[in-house]
Amino acid sequence: MQSIEEEEQALEAATKLFCGECEFLKGVVNIDGLPAADRVEIAFAGRSNVGKSSLINALLGRKALARTSNTPGRTREINYFTLGEQLYVVDMPGYGYARASKSLVEGWNRLIHDYLRGRATLSRVFLLIDSRHGIKPNDFEIMEMLDEAAVSYQIVLTKLDKLKKAEQEAIVPHVQAQLAKHPAAYPEVIGTSSVKKNGLDDLRVAVFGLL
Ligand code: GTP
Ligand code: MG
Repeated sequence: MQSIEEEEQALEAATKLFCGECEFLKGVVNIDGLPAADRVEIAFAGRSNVGKSSLINALLGRKALARTSNTPGRTREINYFTLGEQLYVVDMPGYGYARASKSLVEGWNRLIHDYLRGRATLSRVFLLIDSRHGIKPNDFEIMEMLDEAAVSYQIVLTKLDKLKKAEQEAIVPHVQAQLAKHPAAYPEVIGTSSVKKNGLDDLRVAVFGLL
């Protein structure tokens, strides 16, 4: 258990980290195109339209650094952003996008799987789940793959603002209880809203803790 003072210090340091210089580095379409694995890396993964790009923008305090859209399938590359000189923040293409062509889906899935399983500097995957829908079968597939590959991941609920107050309070413990049999899952679930800016400090502190 951290003391209140330690918590305040961690929040201050995390806030400072996220106020640092951030910029778009590159979009990777092929596993050979990944930048040198020379620093801590975190990735935001999840179903198409779950709010990955929006959450990255909210965390970084930038309106449109990562491109967002109402249309699922907006992010088609593994997009790298630098935060200071210590950290890569990675925005991933979503999975489960029904309207993409079969060959496109296969290509994305291979890229996502190869990247998630094979990136040595990937400290944690933040696996985003829409709080209205909960964990879906294709999310469980990714979780099992990460469990098998022993890649640490943490569930982040998105779009909390779309739930009623009572539902918001119930969803975090409900999802947390589903993680018991997933050895690579970090036990604590973070609830967020990119629109209302909820949960961002918790997430920033979690990221800071990885450095
Ligand atoms: P892909 O790149 O297609 O996989 O989608 P994504 O996961 O990056 O989602 P994106 O951030 O583009 O957001 C999808 C839609 O959800 C957009 O219309 C966003 O405005 C909306 N959205 C994202 N986060 C929130 C949130 O916290 N609350 C609400 N109400 N809407 C959100
Ligand atoms: Mg996106």
